[in-house]
Amino acid sequence: MKRIGILTSGGDCSGMNATIRSATRTALARGVQVVGFRKGYAGLLKGDFIEMTTREVAGILHRGGTFLQSARSEEFRTVLGREKAVRHLQDYGVEGLIVIGGDGSLNGALALHKMGVPVIGVPASIDNDIAFTDMALGVDTALNNIIYAVDCIKDTASSHDRAFVIEVMGRNSGYLASMSAIATGAEYAIIPEVEYDVADLCNQLRRRYEEGRSNAIIILAEGAGRAQNIADNIKDAIGFETRVTVLGHYQRGGAPSVFDRLLGSRFGNAAVEQLLAGEMGKMVGLCCGEICSTLLETVVVSEKTTLDELHELSKILGI
Ligand code: F6P
Repeated sequence: MKRIGILTSGGDCSGMNATIRSATRTALARGVQVVGFRKGYAGLLKGDFIEMTTREVAGILHRGGTFLQSARSEEFRTVLGREKAVRHLQDYGVEGLIVIGGDGSLNGALALHKMGVPVIGVPASIDNDIAFTDMALGVDTALNNIIYAVDCIKDTASSHDRAFVIEVMGRNSGYLASMSAIATGAEYAIIPEVEYDVADLCNQLRRRYEEGRSNAIIILAEGAGRAQNIADNIKDAIGFETRVTVLGHYQRGGAPSVFDRLLGSRFGNAAVEQLLAGEMGKMVGLCCGEICSTLLETVVVSEKTTLDELHELSKILGI
């Protein structure tokens, strides 16, 4: 393989730059040229790419987001769009592709693989909803962002005797909500995977209130309900003064944590080594601390199943 491509696709996250840098420098060290497509599959379809040199990726390791930028491309979802993508890769002499992104992007990578393109996927999504990796890129940084914000909110909640409903991202996953609830000592986490009982929540908060603990933090996963409705329920049931905070895209940005810098560096290196070893149609992952690799075909039809136990823990600790 003489020339490979890299792109970041879907929602950005911290650690993508570390992956781009590592993949680029690993490939160059192995005598392989690298091109970076701008704005994900959209850049591939437009022919918008840059030749990556070791200097091109200097000074990006500590920056959040993705220096190649990212996008969600409608055209790439069509058969014609995908055929065009394969043609462009051939025209540019790109013999292998590294796709860094979440489940939608990995589905796109699988489609290219089925059309004969050697592809390796790198899991990157703060939602941590991708199977066959303990952690995706960006999750650890997002959790650090969340706990910083929740700690700040706890100060003001206790100063005013208020209950706060804090909405975190995650799409259909409650990972960020459950983990941040444990890490901040929140009273309650509401996640899409587990049925939420408003009476149970209010009883728990009422007990607290009667014991004289007059503030509370409820972490709500965005896929599990509307923050204002929950806040209104609590106010009506207990008389607690309530406030709502939606953390939004703040969670996705910022300097990557040490964990994400290391993970991105390991993923980028492993993705190139796999391509050069003739592996294709796979996703690199982190399994019990080691780099592992799984067929994309298996990854995209599998669900992550590690949440139950940790959500239970958040309940026990929140009492
Ligand atoms: O998938 C990552 C994620 O941040 C989700 O948690 C969130 O629902 C979504 O992307 C937001 O997407 P956008 O940046 O397009 O608004």
